[in-house]
Amino acid sequence: MGETLLVIDEGTTSTRAMLFAPDGRVLGSRSAPLTQSYPRPGWVEHDAAEIWERSAACAQAMVELAGGPDRVAAIGITNQRETVVFWDRTTGEPLAPAIVWQDRRTADTCRTLRDAGEEAGVQARTGLLLDPYFSATKIAWAREHWPAVRDANDRLAVGTVESWLVWKLTGGENRGGLHVTDATNASRTLLMGLGSGQWDDGLLSLFDVPRSILPEIVDCAGPIGRTTRFGGSIPICGMAGDQQAATIGQACLTPGETKATFGTGAFVLTQYGQQLPQSKNRLLATVAWQLGGVRAYALEGSVFVAGSLIQWLRDAVGLIGTAAETEALARSVADNGGVYVVPALSGLGAPWWEPDARGSISGLSFAATRAHIVRAALESMAHQAHDLKTAFAADGADWSLLRIDGGMVANDWMAQDLADILDVTVERPAMAETTALGAAMMAGVGCGLFAGLEQAAAMRGPVQRFTPAGNAVARGRRLNGWRDAVARVRDQSP
Ligand code: G3P
Repeated sequence: MGETLLVIDEGTTSTRAMLFAPDGRVLGSRSAPLTQSYPRPGWVEHDAAEIWERSAACAQAMVELAGGPDRVAAIGITNQRETVVFWDRTTGEPLAPAIVWQDRRTADTCRTLRDAGEEAGVQARTGLLLDPYFSATKIAWAREHWPAVRDANDRLAVGTVESWLVWKLTGGENRGGLHVTDATNASRTLLMGLGSGQWDDGLLSLFDVPRSILPEIVDCAGPIGRTTRFGGSIPICGMAGDQQAATIGQACLTPGETKATFGTGAFVLTQYGQQLPQSKNRLLATVAWQLGGVRAYALEGSVFVAGSLIQWLRDAVGLIGTAAETEALARSVADNGGVYVVPALSGLGAPWWEPDARGSISGLSFAATRAHIVRAALESMAHQAHDLKTAFAADGADWSLLRIDGGMVANDWMAQDLADILDVTVERPAMAETTALGAAMMAGVGCGLFAGLEQAAAMRGPVQRFTPAGNAVARGRRLNGWRDAVARVRDQSP
């Protein structure tokens, strides 16, 4: 058996491959950006062929770094969740653009289903809510509006991104690949029964999705398939949605342990063990992992805009030159000067679920500077997290410590601001790529390198702690200002 673990971490804005030693050391990494298409306001699409080609090129580079396919013990895959890919089983080529999780084109469908009283039943069966974020209404939309998808009939295969990647990795010349998904990704589609771990006939008929186009749901670790794409035969032994992988990579293995990943969006997951979470406060219940057919669950708060706000301030608005500048800018002013940013650039996720809400920058006066706006943008991360903490607490799952990760948390100012506003200790691992680490842990379990996740958790390295230092008055002022700003955004939402 090879001695390294290769991870493909396919995110929303970029894809990467990373090579790990079994002790958690990162041996190498290669990433590539992904093209974002916004054909209409609220629509977000990806090119599935590009996702595959760039992911494969990154993985190829890591196989070479390892010294060839024989040196790789197993591949683990982790991915942006909910995004749907449509492909032709006979050619293995995409039939249409991938519809991305941020896409809001099915907001009306969701509203109609909600108005018809379907939400309670859907939430009871899936743990999710009726929001365009999830895959089912995107699949139905594509079958209705895109002739290439509709007319493909038996040739149509549909899957989330890990499913697409496994198909491409395991297929070859004139040969279809494996059509599988894992239970964490399947739990984000609105089509899987959370308790059964299987596609649910009632949901398939509600959303008008034929079972035959969907992949088989499998465990997150084990002998999932083999690829010969990189010159030799390498087993694929791990698969999980990126937020679940980060939960594993942060070693949130015991009920109550909680992580928050600040990537493109911000996603907080609290481990529930084998107990099914039931939220009364607009949070989600989701599969944390499935091993040997047994599922662990998590309670999730999904915020749609985090790092993408900083990217937008840089690329679309030109307010900053690099993301790294934001820390010095935030520190350069004493406070936000009354400025609030509500980053509803793709609607509002948990706990509000308002797909048509639009973002705002409010509280501007002539005294407001670029630094105040940037600081308000960074502050909105702690504010959004605070809304989630309130909902988690109301569901009986308050956080006593928060493990943070993702590209944004390299910013020390933001990590401390989270601790201050949440009034809870925040823990940041030295190795911030916890999503990829979680996928490596899964692959290591799946190929027998580790006996289980507890043993694999030794891959997680040292951590740094940020303890709350804010004062209650300042915190109260901030949170009141935020509440008003969110209320205004929600009032203006159609
Ligand atoms: O649910 C969407 C999520 O999986 C996207 O993750 O890492 O691209 O923010 P990320």
